[in-house]
Amino acid sequence: MKVEALTATCLDEAAELLAATQRAGEGPASGVWRASAAAEVIAASLPGALALAAMERGVLVGFLVVPLPGAPGADPVRILDHHHAADPGRARDAYRALYAPAAASLVGFGCFHHVVRVLIEPPGAVQAFGELGFGVDQIKGVQPLGSRLSATGEPGEAGLDDVDELVSLYIELATYHARSPVLRPAALDVAATRSELVDTVEDPRRTILVARDGRRIIGMIEAHPDARHLDTVTIGLNIVTERARSRGVGTALLDGVLGWGLDAGYRHCAVSWASANLVSDAFYRARGFVPFRYELVRRIDPEVSWANERLDYSLLG
Ligand SMILES: CC(C)(COP(=O)(O)OP(=O)(O)OC[C@H]1O[C@@H](n2cnc3c(N)ncnc32)[C@H](O)[C@@H]1OP(=O)(O)O)[C@@H](O)C(=O)NCCC(=O)NCCS
Repeated sequence: MKVEALTATCLDEAAELLAATQRAGEGPASGVWRASAAAEVIAASLPGALALAAMERGVLVGFLVVPLPGAPGADPVRILDHHHAADPGRARDAYRALYAPAAASLVGFGCFHHVVRVLIEPPGAVQAFGELGFGVDQIKGVQPLGSRLSATGEPGEAGLDDVDELVSLYIELATYHARSPVLRPAALDVAATRSELVDTVEDPRRTILVARDGRRIIGMIEAHPDARHLDTVTIGLNIVTERARSRGVGTALLDGVLGWGLDAGYRHCAVSWASANLVSDAFYRARGFVPFRYELVRRIDPEVSWANERLDYSLLG
């Protein structure tokens, strides 16, 4: 297998591979289900990216587009759904061959945090990246809209007067994710969160539903049209304040979003959660969400930048 630059000459083959992979996946239809749309999306992702093709006997068996950061450094490099695909029969070899030069370039540019989104089916990509040192960080699940959950309580829409309380819930969610075993740094840009909340409340395509105990908000759920999957509403943030948990409030909020999505004409509801968040993992699976995509992460020890093959042991005599 040979790895070379992905150029316009093999764009159609790459688009066929991507569209076929997306069609074979078990998630809702994506915007690149058709090869014509896939070709446009791949072409748009090429400027400023490292784009590689895996060729076997002159046939493209896989490709990888790695968006490069504007500046070297610590920001994660995110390889999204439409940035890669491989022939299912050659996926393992293709991804291994493609990632080797990509990882070398990224590390050379100071990028040690690599993220790749992969469909769970067909399983080749998950397996290949798993064998390259990646692990599951985020899970995206989906369920068809149609049936409602058995829930008590009718959540209402949030208004601009609720924004301060919603910001407090966001802070609680960030600190919740800092606990073990998620251990994600609780670093929230409060001003940006506030302005995002105002935008969401004012946007008719999005919703924030809230549950109240008296006048006080005890839980919230936010939902918006999915950026990649057709006819799909996606849940962004969802939290019930700690003292009100395990009493059915989260189920009532979720049921409210399922009803909102159905009324708005969507066919699927999706949500992403941190795999290490034991509570949300149990909650979403038990409430009907079936995983279809992983976000895999690999963090490389930055010491490879000096402890590498150029290390001069002759100094030790
Ligand atoms: C996930 C969450 C929104 C659910 O809200 P809730 O009001 O507690 O939910 P409900 O009372 O309707 O349902 C409780 C369900 O949560 C899950 N759950 C609650 N505590 C749990 C625990 N200690 N371990 C595993 N699962 C647990 C179970 O699935 C449980 O359902 P069950 O009773 O049928 O087993 C809430 O627990 C929460 O805010 N968690 C922290 C933030 C978070 O993880 N948000 C979602 C991801 S962004």
